[in-house]
Amino acid sequence: MGSDKGVVRVLLFSASLRADSFNTRLIGLARSVIERLGARIDLATMREFDAPSYNQDVEAKDGFPAGTSELHRRLEACDAFVIATPEYNASMPGHLKNAIDWVSRARPQPFNARHGLLLSASPSMAGGNRGLWSLRIPLEHLGARVFPDMFSLAQAHKAFTDSGGLADQLLAERFEQNLRAFLDLVEAAKHYPCIKKAWVEFLGEPGDTVGRVEAA
Ligand SMILES: Cc1cc2nc3c(=O)[nH]c(=O)nc-3n(C[C@H](O)[C@H](O)[C@H](O)COP(=O)(O)O)c2cc1C
Repeated sequence: MGSDKGVVRVLLFSASLRADSFNTRLIGLARSVIERLGARIDLATMREFDAPSYNQDVEAKDGFPAGTSELHRRLEACDAFVIATPEYNASMPGHLKNAIDWVSRARPQPFNARHGLLLSASPSMAGGNRGLWSLRIPLEHLGARVFPDMFSLAQAHKAFTDSGGLADQLLAERFEQNLRAFLDLVEAAKHYPCIKKAWVEFLGEPGDTVGRVEAA
């Protein structure tokens, strides 16, 4: 890493698999803002983290699918992550939860103490915001530091300019402020890692009544 050791590293991905995805457009915009603000970017696609439906027997027999190992590696290599996700039926898409379930079994558990920012885009008036509240639950359970301010782009089919920016100037400013505030926090925590938190997993499995503890 050399001279850029102190630079904040951010993994970004859209959780949509759709070719003309609004969430992929939004993550592209986040990428350009974050890059301009001086962080180092790793832009991924959901396809790279693809995995079959989680099955504990398969995990025990074959270990992790390639997509899970890839998500684990990419999370471990960054200080923070940004996810832009569609809302499906007032929740997150099943493939995103499945990817989280798989990677939560890897060690070190990669969400623990990692900073996360959640974005969504939808043609609806609420912008997919309910999906983000559902996404917070597993991430916070896993010890991620999920930024309080989330950004949900309503009426996404009308929201972008031809060059990929946000047509509404006020909204564009809010988006940039949100990203800037998140990066400031990540940078502060990287240089002054004063908040230590142990992550405790209670599996509730036979023979594991105490659970496992992983330090931050
Ligand atoms: C199975 C399914 C469920 C959906 N449920 C919601 C929903 O609860 N709320 C919402 O705002 N949009 C919902 N939508 C519409 C999506 O927001 C829309 O398809 C959007 O374009 C998906 O994001 P993308 O463009 O990034 O793929 C749903 C779409 C699908 C396919």
